[in-house]
Amino acid sequence: MSEPVDPSEHDVSRRALVVGLGSAVIVGPACASPPTPAVERQGVPPAHADAATPPTADAATFDGDAQPTPACDETKENPEGPFYSAGAPWRDTLLDAGMAGTLLTIRGHIRGVGLGCEPIQNASLDVWQADSVGRYDRRGFVLRGRIATKSDGSYELRTIVPGYYLDGGKYRPSHIHVKVTAPGYITLVTQLYFKDDPYSAADALFLPELEIALQQDALGKVGAFDFVLRTT
Ligand SMILES: [Fe+2]
Repeated sequence: MSEPVDPSEHDVSRRALVVGLGSAVIVGPACASPPTPAVERQGVPPAHADAATPPTADAATFDGDAQPTPACDETKENPEGPFYSAGAPWRDTLLDAGMAGTLLTIRGHIRGVGLGCEPIQNASLDVWQADSVGRYDRRGFVLRGRIATKSDGSYELRTIVPGYYLDGGKYRPSHIHVKVTAPGYITLVTQLYFKDDPYSAADALFLPELEIALQQDALGKVGAFDFVLRTT
């Protein structure tokens, strides 16, 4: 059982729970960083990350062939919550060596409703989440990072299934916080949830439009989600 991280700042306490969305695994080495428990990191970004320099989009020409989502509805907003940290490093994965949890990959596009739902280039996702037992890294950038879209407007988020944590006496469903930005569009702050989570129905913030149906592949869970932004 883990102790509350900072009950004086927010009414959140956590204890270890087995994530109900898949069996736990130990993530294999994704970089040269030594294995370190998430909450014990002391503000040192992962060794492979470069917080000061965003990745440069490759030079491939925008193909324009991606199909719009059927409805092209603007993605629903959802509260930012108390655990956002600005300045997360640019990364291509949130996985660190030795990280415990169930592998999770989410793929999709960032689209603009004002452009007929075409994918947006040069967009980014600022992502933060709890670890496999519901703890946020409050000092560093474990399970936090900014991910740039590829030249076709697509993204891939590689991480672990977030654990549950108590908020006001009730467990929040497993969720991932995302802040999506793109030039010329209104920044979207939202959260992603997962189908069949037992805590979704009673959660005050849960929205079914933000729910992802996960599939099992050889390595872990896989899902898809397109973000649709409003123009400024
Ligand atoms: Fe959260």
